[in-house]
Amino acid sequence: MKKIMVTGGAGFIGSHTVVELQQKGYEVFIVDNLSNSNPDVIDNIAKITGVKPVFGKVDVSEKKELFDFLKQHPGIESVIHFAASKAVGESVEKPLKYYRNNINGLINVLEAMKEFGIKNLVFSSSCTVYGQPKKLPVTENSPIQPALSPYGNTKQINEEIIHDFVAVTPSINAIALRYFNPIGAHPSSLIGELPIGVPANLIPYITQTAAGIRECLSVFGNDYDTPDGTPIRDYIDIIDLANAHIAAINRMEEGKQKGRLEFFNIGTGRGLTVLELINAFEKATGVKLNYKIVGRRAGDIEKVWADTSLANNELGWKAKVPIEETLLNAWKWQQHISK
Ligand code: UD1
Repeated sequence: MKKIMVTGGAGFIGSHTVVELQQKGYEVFIVDNLSNSNPDVIDNIAKITGVKPVFGKVDVSEKKELFDFLKQHPGIESVIHFAASKAVGESVEKPLKYYRNNINGLINVLEAMKEFGIKNLVFSSSCTVYGQPKKLPVTENSPIQPALSPYGNTKQINEEIIHDFVAVTPSINAIALRYFNPIGAHPSSLIGELPIGVPANLIPYITQTAAGIRECLSVFGNDYDTPDGTPIRDYIDIIDLANAHIAAINRMEEGKQKGRLEFFNIGTGRGLTVLELINAFEKATGVKLNYKIVGRRAGDIEKVWADTSLANNELGWKAKVPIEETLLNAWKWQQHISK
């Protein structure tokens, strides 16, 4: 069995990726400091797959903790690096927390790869690096724009760090996946997104409103240059997204890479407005959503969706799950956790 380390494997994207990896025969080693996740996730992964992943409570921004873990678990060939702080608003309030966690974390992972002979890296990046693209859909060659938050900046800086490191480290290959908006939950309702406090992202806010935890969803602005005036995003199902990581790992294992660091957009290729998403949610779940239009949210971009041809053709990966199914899974998960 191929051994793979998943940093942040107890988190939203990490946990779903661990499930898909295990189901495809990988032996998974999770490191996570549980700062924004729950240890029950490990047991719930085991309930889905029948296999308990190896778990280490490790803060990857602490080099010694990571190195000690890897000394105890030799033979790991690849790493998927999710562990990072991800709240955009908090990153504006506490920039140093974000620079320390996200950048030190990556540097330690890269040093560990060199030290322990780990060959392949998949890095969690974001479409946030494109800002508001001039041309849509956005391709991987679209210019990187100045980041709108310290969180976004850490994604850009980390892409550059990987670029510079692999250039002088021939034993290591890397793929950065630029995610669009990940949503949904595992169809088993055993794992999903666990926002702490009031959700900042749209889907958890929708499902909490539908569940009666929040009174009313605020739709941030309907005066954008889009068909119904609300912003457009490319919402990607969490299982589809998880599988993009496996495609990326396979590509490197099979030596199919063109270049030492590659970038892929991971989205559906289809943009939906906020109101279209609300309609799709109501249709999929039969639940009427209480919402009102309010002013724009500072820092929001108007519209972005992915050109996914590169991922489709090179990775052999394509988003498959219909949006209604994704929204139904998110709703089933919400009902499960609010019981
Ligand atoms: C946000 C981050 C992005 C990050 C991503 C992680 C910002 C500016 N961007 O993306 O960097 O990678 O989360 O998932 O924070 N909306 C409402 N009402 C709400 C919440 C959201 O109308 O209560 C709207 C927003 O205006 C936006 C859309 O829903 O048009 C999606 O918002 P959200 O889920 O927060 O994602 P992004 O802003 O795209």
